[in-house]
Amino acid sequence: MMRSHYNGSINRDALDQTITACGWVHRRRDHGGVIFIDLRDRSGLLQVVFDPDQPDIFARAERLRSEYVVKVTGRVRNRPEGTINKELASGEVEISANELDVLNAALTPPIQIDETDGVGDAARLRYRYIELRKPHMQSNLRLRANFTRAVRDALDSRGFMEVETPILTRATPEGARDFLVPSRTQPGHFFALPQSPQLFKQLLMTAGTDRYYQIARCFRDEDLRADRQPEFTQIDIEASFVDSEDLMTINEAMMREVFATVAGESLPEPFPRITYADAMRRFGSDKPDLRIDLELVDVADLVKTAEFKVFSGPATRDDGRVAALAVPGGAELTRKQIDDYTEFVGRYGAKGLAYIRVDDVNTGREGLTSPILKFLSDEAIAGIVSRTGVHSGDLIFFGADRVDVVNDALGALRVRLGHDLGLASDGWHPLWVIDWPMFEKDPDTGRFEALHHPFTAPAVDDPEALKQAPEKALSQAYDMVLNGNEIGGGSVRIHDPNMQQAAFDVLGITPDEAEQKFGFLLEALSCGAPPHGGIAFGLDRIVMLLAGAESIREVISFPKTQTATDPLTGAPSAADPAHLRELGLRMRHTGSTATNRTENTG
Ligand code: AMO
Ligand code: AMP
Repeated sequence: MMRSHYNGSINRDALDQTITACGWVHRRRDHGGVIFIDLRDRSGLLQVVFDPDQPDIFARAERLRSEYVVKVTGRVRNRPEGTINKELASGEVEISANELDVLNAALTPPIQIDETDGVGDAARLRYRYIELRKPHMQSNLRLRANFTRAVRDALDSRGFMEVETPILTRATPEGARDFLVPSRTQPGHFFALPQSPQLFKQLLMTAGTDRYYQIARCFRDEDLRADRQPEFTQIDIEASFVDSEDLMTINEAMMREVFATVAGESLPEPFPRITYADAMRRFGSDKPDLRIDLELVDVADLVKTAEFKVFSGPATRDDGRVAALAVPGGAELTRKQIDDYTEFVGRYGAKGLAYIRVDDVNTGREGLTSPILKFLSDEAIAGIVSRTGVHSGDLIFFGADRVDVVNDALGALRVRLGHDLGLASDGWHPLWVIDWPMFEKDPDTGRFEALHHPFTAPAVDDPEALKQAPEKALSQAYDMVLNGNEIGGGSVRIHDPNMQQAAFDVLGITPDEAEQKFGFLLEALSCGAPPHGGIAFGLDRIVMLLAGAESIREVISFPKTQTATDPLTGAPSAADPAHLRELGLRMRHTGSTATNRTENTG
């Protein structure tokens, strides 16, 4: 064996033993004629001391630089009094080196491992293999591995069976663009990379697999954000002969077990449930952050006849909403802070942010300060004060606009205020959001779109009823939300081919088109498909939350940039013309992006 110990495993138990450790030179310090190095490996740091009484080893140690790869043999001894480092597992001991092999030299690292170096994101991804040497990145990868193992254990023990499904496949509609792969053997034809294994897991249920899971890579060509990558990992789950109640019970039990195993954290039992309609009404969001104890309150009925058109307009329109958000202690907010929040809600389309400051709640109009007070009747003011339940020293913000604008703006403001004013509690606050609408109308095209995906079962079991009132139909879908993040979504599926066709009809998918795109699924549904349903969790997102990271990039070994590139490998890259010919493809250099690409890549 090249080494006898990992650095982090060496402690007083090994006193006086001669050990061999390997790793990277984390830091070198020269002190009073003695050389110290902190030797780093996956397990941690170990202090190694080189004394000048061994001149040739000492001379070699003098040439060591940061990130050189070395092998050291020496005797374990106590650190001198006063130099003990309680932060390190090996912090009470050091080794006195009597052998040193330099296994590899290293260029000056472009990224410092042991400090915040102000290096930009591009460099971090360009030199990812060095970035990943950082202890917190190592610990994120470790956490991810532990998490994945705990998920497998929890699902295996519940009778789920891991099955792999194809990566080269046909389009799976999850609402994003597909990544296409040209076929050489079928020129002019393309595979799509799966946006999820949705259709295959449903086929597996038809095949009698009964309980399936997969730690599945998914591909979606969509605009990236902190919680989205073009390729990401799902914990994909499906089961037969179950209803939504069974599915939520199984999946939250699984998640409780995994959080306990991996992080020693206990999640509530059962998870609270809230309908989609209530989530939007109370929190302005379909993924409410329950750590924050602020709620939106409807006041449209109180201001319908107000002189203030900003309020009375939306209050009297079907698609309008007027909502109040009471902020405990908010009377302390400065003019400047209120202006900042007004600017903030503007990003969500709000045209303003009216407010009432409550100096003294007991003196009616006199105790309030607000530019809009003069437009509101005494009854309206009294109604608002009592419905929001404000106290002296609070402030009430208002949103008045189309429902979606008010929800987006006040929903985001609620979360921001919660964090800014320290109104957010600690800990884990999971919940289920249930009773989703089946469809949503695209405001531009006027066409219905599936809120979850087209295979989700409606709450009604009559295909005609679904077609008659699609805008009112609720689905048997559920999302798991954790601290304001959508960590998973699933549903009971349609297992009746007639119902599936009815859903396609509402979505404007003709029988011909349905046959062409999903004929195989319709056929399978006609060949003895059991009732089934499932869910998929965003593994990257959950690990991000457990790691306390700001972005899923922090828990993915080799993630992509904001523009879906990999600066390390240079992917995506131009293709060899001969390869393109073989695929029956030719580049058109008309679009500006295409031109830029060819220029960029030479
Ligand atoms: P959905 O599209 O809701 O459902 O995806 C499930 C979960 O996957 C995560 N997720 C992502 N994570 C990182 N980057 C992305 N681009 C990304 N997109 C989604 C989210 C989300 O909750 N087939 C259905 C599931 C089902 O019905 O069983 C599906 O894919 O955490
Ligand atoms: P204005 O009459 O436009 O000067 O607005 C008076 C107050 O109402 C200001 O505090 C604005 O920020 C606020 N306001 C304007 N439009 C809206 C809106 N759509 N929702 C909430 N407040 C608004």
